Amino acid sequence: MSDVIPFPMGFLWGAATSAYQIEGSPLADGAGPSIWHRFAHTPGMTANGETGDVACDHYRRADQDVRLMRDLGLTAYRFSIAWARVLPAGRGRVNAPGLAFYDRLTDLLVAHGIRPVVTLYHWDLPAALDDEGGWINRDVAGWFADYAVVMVRALGDRVALWVTLNEPWVVSDAGYLHGVHAPGHRNLPEAPVVSHNLLRAHGAGLQAIHAEGGRQAGLVVNLEPKIAASERPEDIAATRRADAYMNRQFLDPVFFGRFPDELTEVFGPAWPACSEADFGLIREPLDFLGINYYTRAVTRHDPSAPPLFAAPTPQPGRLYTATNWEVCAPALTDVLTWVRDRYGPVPLYVTENGAAFHDPPQVDGALVEDPLRVAYFQEHLAAAGRALELGVDLRGYFAWSLLDNYEWSAGYDKRFGLFHVDFETQRRTPKASARYYREVIRTNGAVLGS
Ligand code: FCB
Repeated sequence: MSDVIPFPMGFLWGAATSAYQIEGSPLADGAGPSIWHRFAHTPGMTANGETGDVACDHYRRADQDVRLMRDLGLTAYRFSIAWARVLPAGRGRVNAPGLAFYDRLTDLLVAHGIRPVVTLYHWDLPAALDDEGGWINRDVAGWFADYAVVMVRALGDRVALWVTLNEPWVVSDAGYLHGVHAPGHRNLPEAPVVSHNLLRAHGAGLQAIHAEGGRQAGLVVNLEPKIAASERPEDIAATRRADAYMNRQFLDPVFFGRFPDELTEVFGPAWPACSEADFGLIREPLDFLGINYYTRAVTRHDPSAPPLFAAPTPQPGRLYTATNWEVCAPALTDVLTWVRDRYGPVPLYVTENGAAFHDPPQVDGALVEDPLRVAYFQEHLAAAGRALELGVDLRGYFAWSLLDNYEWSAGYDKRFGLFHVDFETQRRTPKASARYYREVIRTNGAVLGS
């Protein structure tokens, strides 16, 4: 007999993916190149030089993949639009075949009773816009809003939830400060400018979605509790800076119309002033907030880690995933209650949660046994259930990811999927975690064990 923590009626059970990570065929049917296409094709930028040229070939296998979703029993699917498929130059001319791909995918989902949840920006800016400065150019807010209008006009009658941006912190930090993601800049003064423009684009996009009649629109952020490694004042200060930078940098402006003070401390004169008019845009009310949760970080002062001078400390005896993230399910409850307590009663979704582990080889169509991932989902769903018990208005949960896929600069080695993908043959095989998740969905609850 299994214990089950019941979830509310109508709770959305989903899985999430993103365009560049699964679609392949990035230039097919008139699409323009994105910054990820360019970055991945620049020697030395990704593990083994791997690119999203083929990925899961989802662009050509969407029918089959929607059938996998139906077999799992998903009630929602979060996917992203490749902006440059729809607008090859990022603005101006619409590429009808690119739009048709998403139109058809949306129809397929609806036909199978799966609610489409659409992310407009999951990191693949059209390269043509990068040539004009990309996220550094203030005009990006208008370009993004115009793109949002195109998408809402095309899919708005069927989309359940619109997400403006996925994880703006990663765009700014990995793309412009550390250069490990596209467009690969390592430029400290750029990062805060990019963050401001991401927020302005989010606000302008949200206004555009609302103006076009899109009713449910929000932002997705990645949150990670920062716990001080010791009582030493320098560790506590470093932890506050890390928390402001990662957890409050985007949410304080959206909900309070101001940036955390710690950010001026970190960036000094590089932190740009933000006008009241900009904050007006940024504070456009959200209909929901999406939270991506993977790990926490026990943090200490580190003099060799500018500009934050903060670094995570490994925790002896704890389980780490293949991406070296500590597994810590109770911190998911903490994140959800923290958001509710700090920012008020906005409806929440866990828009990503999952783990990469080194799975055993897939043999002859047999289910892939992935006990660590099953345990990860079990513990995190229980943690989400506890947040519900504590009164958090949590409306849905999306496992990352439906399929093993292209994990950005880490390439294909980091497998997060509920389904194993053989990248030679494109064969999909369920893992034990897919069987587990199907049972969760069937019983509408977190299944705790058997
Ligand atoms: C998140 C990203 C997603 C995937 C997971 C593992 O930060 O949104 O695309 O890479 O991490």
